[in-house]
Amino acid sequence: MLEDAVVAEDLSFSYSPETPIIENLSLNIPTGSSVAIIGPSGSGKSTLLALLGGFVAPTSGLLSVIGVDISQGSLRRRTQLQQELGWVQQTTNLLPFRSARDNVALPLRLRGCGFNEANAIANQALEVVGLRELAGSACRRLSGGQAQRVCIARAVVTRPRLLLADEPTGQLDASTTKYILNALHDALKLVPGATLVIATHDEAATSICEHTLSVSDRQVVGNLVLS
Ligand SMILES: Nc1ncnc2c1ncn2[C@@H]1O[C@H](COP(=O)(O)OP(=O)(O)OP(=O)(O)O)[C@@H](O)[C@H]1O
Ligand SMILES: [Mg+2]
Repeated sequence: MLEDAVVAEDLSFSYSPETPIIENLSLNIPTGSSVAIIGPSGSGKSTLLALLGGFVAPTSGLLSVIGVDISQGSLRRRTQLQQELGWVQQTTNLLPFRSARDNVALPLRLRGCGFNEANAIANQALEVVGLRELAGSACRRLSGGQAQRVCIARAVVTRPRLLLADEPTGQLDASTTKYILNALHDALKLVPGATLVIATHDEAATSICEHTLSVSDRQVVGNLVLS
């Protein structure tokens, strides 16, 4: 049987001892599933995503992500995990003077992929998110929604086993939001078997996800079950 992509048991995290953000969380996310974490501002969605991505270390408890046990917060293991992740953030962090294709090809080039092969894979990913025509455009000339689609393409080119998206549609209008969510959905098809976790307060994100995880309190507490 496939191991779950995320296994959390009694997991806690706080930025300071007085204000726990995540307390005694138990959560399993099956490999290959898609989950929208929905909740109000400040409820801890980004913090949970940062934990899953190994960007912060748990305060206590067990956490295993795509088979990497990061419970003890070891930097080496968290770095190992980050090599296997795709990460889409609310704000686009592209190299503005480089083309969309260069930006998407960059993670492949950093992993030693040759120039032509990296560009071919980048072109394919840009096509999937509807940006074939703009592959050669400098990213500073793209709209917010177009730039976000470049980020999605960049997040999937390395074929990550886990794709984390933090408010990927946070700055966009309703119709662009729909377009971006579809792009994310389509881009995921490039990575069979990958698991997707989106943190959002946008109910629209649930439409592309199989499961919803509702975080309604000021903290992420207890045994959360996917619905
Ligand atoms: N680096 C930090 N240091 C201290 N506290 C932080 C830090 N980052 C977030 N927090 C606090 O942790 C709590 C949860 O924040 P988080 O960013 O996870 O919420 P969120 O659900 O993603 O909110 P939003 O929907 O606004 O993005 C908030 O009270 C926030 O003030
Ligand atoms: Mg957030």
